[in-house]
Amino acid sequence: MALKILALGGDGIGPEVLNAGLKLLAAVASSAAIKYELCEDLLHGAAWDKHGTFLHPDTLAKARESDALLVGATGGPAWDRIEVAGGPAEQDGLMKLRHELQTFACVRSSQAWEPLLDYTPFNPDVVRGANVIVMRELCGGAMFSDTRGIETGSDGKRRGFDLNEYAESEIARFARVGFTIARQRKKRVVSVDKSNVFVADKLWREVVTEVSTDFPDIELTHMFADNCAFQLCRQPASFDVILADNLFGDILSDQVGSIAGSLGMLPSASLPGIDANGVSNGTAIYEPVHGSAPDIAGHGVANPIGMILSVAMMFEYSLGRTDISKKISAAVEAALKEGFATRDIGGKATTSAMTDAIIRHYQSP
Ligand code: NAI
Ligand code: MG
Repeated sequence: MALKILALGGDGIGPEVLNAGLKLLAAVASSAAIKYELCEDLLHGAAWDKHGTFLHPDTLAKARESDALLVGATGGPAWDRIEVAGGPAEQDGLMKLRHELQTFACVRSSQAWEPLLDYTPFNPDVVRGANVIVMRELCGGAMFSDTRGIETGSDGKRRGFDLNEYAESEIARFARVGFTIARQRKKRVVSVDKSNVFVADKLWREVVTEVSTDFPDIELTHMFADNCAFQLCRQPASFDVILADNLFGDILSDQVGSIAGSLGMLPSASLPGIDANGVSNGTAIYEPVHGSAPDIAGHGVANPIGMILSVAMMFEYSLGRTDISKKISAAVEAALKEGFATRDIGGKATTSAMTDAIIRHYQSP
């Protein structure tokens, strides 16, 4: 059966990096004899300009029928201040998709690339060998709460609030995905929270600990989120899988970008749960971690690697083809070693030259 893919370029450099990802996808699929059906559509700003909505209902319907969504990036100054009636998911086409598809488990991976060690802010000896997954809970917590607002009290002073709440079931389903993924790696999980301060985080810690009893082969450590941020700078290579709520995950997953040398290098997979073999239970979203980079859009210089590695994650999590995902990653490393680099990682290669070099290495025996 053919893999059904919906490709949504979005805004800014989104369509540029998506094209790079689709070019790699075509090359990989033809050499591995994998069939796929591709459909393309608009998202967020591009959808707003055409339909006056950030996510057209037809696009959502197509998404539900797909196995995988490949997304470029969304947002930009033309749309960032538009306010639509409804909660946080209504303000953003991508958030709406994550919410509607309940892709609650976001896997963001970052690694230290040998050819880019000098390009990170770290001493090469500190960062060498680092390979971290930050798992970010993507559908709950303060970032998705409807209990939010700015109220004016009787004293005429304003009060702002966003409720941070997690149901036991939300924490448990998320932790399960994290432990399952750790099983295929170094079997080490660090769960972060601020249970020394927040009551909701006490529950987070309790539920993660309960779920861990089903995974006795995995080593679980709890760490306060602020200490985790510090330890990620001090000894990034000591981490394997980090479990974090929506807010801490947002911050820590950008922070681990520093070990890769650029935000443009980071891929992500957002999953609605996985089976015991690590394969997604349903429609998953694959997208680079970076945004639409309006400052470089249209110049053909965006780094395509975050998108290309997101396509690699699609082979891993939607098809169980870890072999292909590893081969794509090796091709990226080989292209970097050969000296290909876009501007953000200190080179002069265009998006298409970088992409072609990666494809060439993928295809070379
Ligand atoms: P950004 O990630 O777009 O850019 C931050 C910096 O990194 C910029 O200097 C940019 O040029 C650079 N950069 C990012 N990706 C790059 C790539 N592939 N190659 C080379 N350089 C790259 O974040 P920013 O500037 O905070 O936000 C811009 C817009 O993107 C906003 O509208 C924001 O809301 C949106 N955004 C969207 C995200 C998404 O689609 N998932 C995630 C983050 C931001
Ligand atoms: Mg972020």
